[in-house]
Amino acid sequence: MPKITDENYLVKTVHATEWQDVLSTGTTEPMLILALDAESGERDSYVVKPFGHPRIYRQAVMKECLGAWIAMELGLNAFEPVYIEVSTDFADTLRGNPHYQRFTESIGLNFGTKYVPGTIPIVGPKCFSKIQASQAEQITAFDLFISNADRREGKPNLLMVQSDLFVFDHELAFDFMLMLSFNRNLKPWELGEMELTMLRKHFLYPKLRGTQVDIHDFIERFTGIDDHFWAKASNLLPPDWVSDDLATIQNHLALIVENRTIFAQQLAQAILI
Ligand SMILES: Nc1ncnc2c1ncn2[C@@H]1O[C@H](COP(=O)(O)OP(=O)(O)O)[C@@H](O)[C@H]1O
Ligand SMILES: [Mg+2]
Repeated sequence: MPKITDENYLVKTVHATEWQDVLSTGTTEPMLILALDAESGERDSYVVKPFGHPRIYRQAVMKECLGAWIAMELGLNAFEPVYIEVSTDFADTLRGNPHYQRFTESIGLNFGTKYVPGTIPIVGPKCFSKIQASQAEQITAFDLFISNADRREGKPNLLMVQSDLFVFDHELAFDFMLMLSFNRNLKPWELGEMELTMLRKHFLYPKLRGTQVDIHDFIERFTGIDDHFWAKASNLLPPDWVSDDLATIQNHLALIVENRTIFAQQLAQAILI
């Protein structure tokens, strides 16, 4: 997986040319579309989450990008964010399509990823055997780090691509942003009631419960989420998706990075008991 801190990393911008399908398994009804990469001249399939949906707003798509970029930086497999330009010409081609209105409310850049064909869904506990313990440990630690309660039973937001496990769908991550600042955990490296509930509801928790996890090396990778990472993220995001929320997220995660040893110990303890 590339990392946004790689020297020449760029986010691809592609231009929507043809609507193909709605992915109704997702609550935000992402769309499968064809889009043109003007640089390479190639037309490919992409999954776009157009803005015209109540759950897709600027902070949400910023969180989608940050979640994927943090996963990539930590060495997890994630669908790489792509910016999908929706033009009025494209929206006009959809007159009569039930999703026309959604696209008219999404003119400009939208969040998307390149469509990966042939993925194998991860659904119930019977899929646990396909997942290595180390992958489960790392993804669980990642979700607790980014405060993501949206990988749970019935909604794993995990897919297998060949034999690799991919994480996606991070628009509900950093959920401390939804709380008033004085209600937030001031010591987020210590697992409070909210974090323990998040852990116990995590899709992978039943696989790990009662085991001795080995996350020490993985937790050291958190140091890659440093000032350079955040500066790069801020530069890569479309300017109108960025707000003060970015600094709030950066500061919250920096506390966990600084106190990662305690975070890892508490997480290991909570999984063991
Ligand atoms: N890049 C991709 N390649 C293949 N399938 C994808 C990709 N992105 C999303 N999907 C499929 O679309 C579904 C919905 O995407 P998701 O990001 O979970 O949306 P939602 O926020 O609506 O739940 C996923 O469960 C997955 O099956
Ligand atoms: Mg989803």
